Amino acid sequence: MKSSLGKSIFALGVILTSALVNRLVEAQVQPNEKFHINSQRLQGALEKLSEFGRNPEGGVTRLGYSDTQLAARKYVAGLMEQAGLQVRSDAAGNLFGHRDGSEKLPVLLFGSHIDSVVKGGNFDGDLGSVGAIEVTRALKEAGAKTRHPLEVVIWENEEGNHFGISTMGSGIAAGIWGPEILTRKDERGETVADWLRKYGQDPAHMTDARIAPGALAAYLELHIEQGPNLDEARIPIGVVQGIVGLKRWHCIASGFANHAGTTPMNRRRDALAAASRDLLAVRDVVRAEPGRQVGTVGYVKVEPGAVNVIPGRAEFPVELRDLDAARIDRIWEKIQTKFREVDAEEHVETSCVPLDDIAPARTDESMQAAIREAAKSLGLPTMDLPSGAVQDAQQMAKLAPFGMIFVPSRDGISHSPKEFTSWPDVANGAEVLYRAVLLVDAARDRK
Ligand code: GLV
Ligand code: MN
Ligand code: MN
Repeated sequence: MKSSLGKSIFALGVILTSALVNRLVEAQVQPNEKFHINSQRLQGALEKLSEFGRNPEGGVTRLGYSDTQLAARKYVAGLMEQAGLQVRSDAAGNLFGHRDGSEKLPVLLFGSHIDSVVKGGNFDGDLGSVGAIEVTRALKEAGAKTRHPLEVVIWENEEGNHFGISTMGSGIAAGIWGPEILTRKDERGETVADWLRKYGQDPAHMTDARIAPGALAAYLELHIEQGPNLDEARIPIGVVQGIVGLKRWHCIASGFANHAGTTPMNRRRDALAAASRDLLAVRDVVRAEPGRQVGTVGYVKVEPGAVNVIPGRAEFPVELRDLDAARIDRIWEKIQTKFREVDAEEHVETSCVPLDDIAPARTDESMQAAIREAAKSLGLPTMDLPSGAVQDAQQMAKLAPFGMIFVPSRDGISHSPKEFTSWPDVANGAEVLYRAVLLVDAARDRK
């Protein structure tokens, strides 16, 4: 470590091998702690984005396919233009910003989503979206050229709180959803097709949003962890190994609405009593198996919902998640057996229809390595970990090798106005993304 380059590398407190230094230099990355991205500009843009759909609690409600989201999309499209990107929307409402590469190669895609859950926070999705745009702006300022064309993507309706389909925009792009979803209605009776029209798209052409096989060189996404591991261990960068799969069902327990005062206890067909036992059965079956699987009933809607009427109908979703799709199926079989037992005892009929199905996905090892190297070049330690949240990235797994960078979530809180990632952690994540993009660009599609 005698050269001046060597001194700055030594100052990181980590030893960079000469092979890594060569790879960094070839990829136009400074192998030291000097940031390429502008952390203040990034913070400013994230703070501005948090005004769209802001709640009194400080977080946002910015559902996919909503007026609030349309306004936020416009703001983000402006950021893309400032970064010199050519902006376009696909037929599903996903927003893309394009930057040419110097060779005729497939696109290196990176980004995230800006829609939130109901009463969500200001970092889930926003960080990876605005961070990706900041990366392209910093590349422009550095005069860095890439071999691959680069595209920033803002996926639509990742959270799926509208229409019940998580990773909806990326799922359409990956080809898992087709015209069958166009007639799906929301609570106001508006359909997916209605919303595509509001986004200026022709629903008849929704599947034009599919990304052709071979069109992508790789996909990268920066995201908050949404769990406690990095925060607890005080590790600034997570390297995602895999993303859990998810299945959801919509269930209706049908009983009989009757007089609460005159119907004897043994003659009732109480749909809410059955649904209550069902949701506890979900919890108990999921808990009874060893493993990290999780199961949730997020709400119960009861009809007619009057103080002196026995509930005749209860509607509820069931959601199961695990890294192993077969385990989800096995657990669902057991849950259904329990539901049948409850039905018989409560004189109720419960039927469930599939609502969503997202396959688990493993990240690519060479993408993991690029993220580790990018972090190492900055002197940042990393931790390997799975994602318990579903991600747009797992839809991209069907089209290209992918990698994900996680940064800490304070106290592991997410899907809450209390969701927070410190500004230094935000900046670290975006800088690691900058470097990983360049490392992947330099290494992929070499003859
Ligand atoms: C989205 O963040 C999800 O995991 O539901
Ligand atoms: Mn997210
Ligand atoms: Mn989320």
